[in-house]
Amino acid sequence: MCGITARVGTDGSLGPLLDSLKRLEYRGYDSAGIAVQNGAGISINKCKGEVSALEDALATVSHDGPIGIGHTRWSTHGSPSDVNAHPHTGNDGRVAAVHNGIIENYVELREELTERGSRFTSETDTEVIPHLVEERLAAGDDPETAFRTAIDRLEGSYAIAVIIDDEPAVYATRNGSPLVIGVGDDARYLASDVPAFLHRTDQVVYLEDDDVVVLTADDHRITDLRGTPITRPIETVDWDPEDAEKGSYDHYMLKEIHEQPMALRQTLHGRIGDDDVDLESFPPGTFEEVDRVRLLACGTSYHAGMYGEWLLSNNGVDANTFIASEYSAYPAPVDESTLVIGVTQSGETADTLEALSAAREQGARTLAVTNVIGSTAARTCDDALFIRAGPEIGVAATKTFSSQVAALVLLTERLVRDMTGEPTTDYETRFDALESLPDHVESVVNGTQAASISQRWLGDSGHFFIGRGGAYSVALEGALKFKEITYEHAEGFAAGELKHGPLALVTPETPVFAVGTGHHQSRLESNVNEIQSRGAPVVVVAPRTATRLVDTADEFLPVPATHPDLVAILANVQLQLIAYHAANEMDRSIDKPRNLAKSVTVE
Ligand code: F6R
Repeated sequence: MCGITARVGTDGSLGPLLDSLKRLEYRGYDSAGIAVQNGAGISINKCKGEVSALEDALATVSHDGPIGIGHTRWSTHGSPSDVNAHPHTGNDGRVAAVHNGIIENYVELREELTERGSRFTSETDTEVIPHLVEERLAAGDDPETAFRTAIDRLEGSYAIAVIIDDEPAVYATRNGSPLVIGVGDDARYLASDVPAFLHRTDQVVYLEDDDVVVLTADDHRITDLRGTPITRPIETVDWDPEDAEKGSYDHYMLKEIHEQPMALRQTLHGRIGDDDVDLESFPPGTFEEVDRVRLLACGTSYHAGMYGEWLLSNNGVDANTFIASEYSAYPAPVDESTLVIGVTQSGETADTLEALSAAREQGARTLAVTNVIGSTAARTCDDALFIRAGPEIGVAATKTFSSQVAALVLLTERLVRDMTGEPTTDYETRFDALESLPDHVESVVNGTQAASISQRWLGDSGHFFIGRGGAYSVALEGALKFKEITYEHAEGFAAGELKHGPLALVTPETPVFAVGTGHHQSRLESNVNEIQSRGAPVVVVAPRTATRLVDTADEFLPVPATHPDLVAILANVQLQLIAYHAANEMDRSIDKPRNLAKSVTVE
């Protein structure tokens, strides 16, 4: 996820664009850049780092101009660097472009353009855009036609804004990525999200896919891809600019729960082939020398690691997960044939980094599964697999858990094939289910009854969560989310372990959330009976096809029927929503729970 913005005014645009980028920084913060044009050419400033680094760089810059574009980046193609930062230009520097999304056919376009003389300087997919526009301008097209012809060549998802050296306009379009116009008194704005300009105007025009916009200081002209004019209403946004960074959501956590379909699409994008996974840096054979796998992580990432361990173990791989902070207390056998996987959203968690470093010293090969390109884990491990979930602002991890698990499902396939010589059982149906996962999550988020169910037992003495196999890690995660943001007592248990002690806690005042996946179903049904006979209400989270389980439930939170290995990911989304709505009702500080920080960089 990245943030793009643009402004066309009659005065300098540099300051307003910088302001907008600060407000869009939640969308990405590994590099930033601005291009301005004053009728006599384009000048670009961009650099690696947060927007504040760009601000420092701009402090000594004298050139400004009324027309400009800006970008704050969350890397998907190419590491964070000055060169990969947007805006990008073509050979002649006549065109500058910013882009949010993924250009799927950029490799073919790059090859084609290179053959015709384009020289590329970055590793990004975006750079093909200014080259395509410049090529059409050189061929004699007028600016709008050149822009249209260029975007006609693009496949993928994108929001794009382009400026041309001697044109008093910004050209923009969208397909699958957000873009909104701001109508000011003396300027027009464009951005990925309203907060970028809400402090300047509350008059907005929401663009639809395939709209093409030509923005000038006092006008915005919208057409479809063929050039037919389109009228879109100007709407008044009644958000408080202070809160608007969260868009229309009350909390970042809720926003991020809703972003999970998009995050998963990005995680999975281009990585599922016809008959095998296609993990960019890990071709078949990469892990042939590996004999065993150890996963190290903390908190939510630990639960994702457990999910990975369960999948690997079920497919014949010797795998174990360790709480990273406990790793040094366990003299686990590790040698050159051990692959140690650090699962860490931020890539900066001190406990995980220390455990990885200890494993490295013992000779293990290390791999980071992380969200942050350029993070310490990504840089210091031998390899990295990026989950591409986009920035997560809420302290409680939500979308990154789903993306971590999805990435681990993909990695499992590579590891199992390389280590056992066989694909995982059922891989074809699991691949199909993975492809459908974003849509399935979308239907859970849009159809959930979690808000009302979460209110039924508020204030009870405890909330318990149970599951078996992959659903056990989700039971732990459901409980962690609940305690983290409600500050109420919550515990997750392996369903079969209840009778060995925790059942003593179960009373009519302790609702139990039971996650049913289709694996070990009849045993889970027995556990539910044990709980209900002690008077505790049971909320079943499962597909409707688990009829016996569903029929016994006091409440039911359905998830779509899919491959049983993936059901728990969907159930987890329901549990995130339970925690969220309970905490909201209790008026908790959801995005910044007490005593907790997003990235724990101390041991
Ligand atoms: C809980 C949560 C934490 C993190 C943990 C590890 O919602 O977010 O438990 O999962 O601090 O952080 P990363 O994944 O950045 O290593």
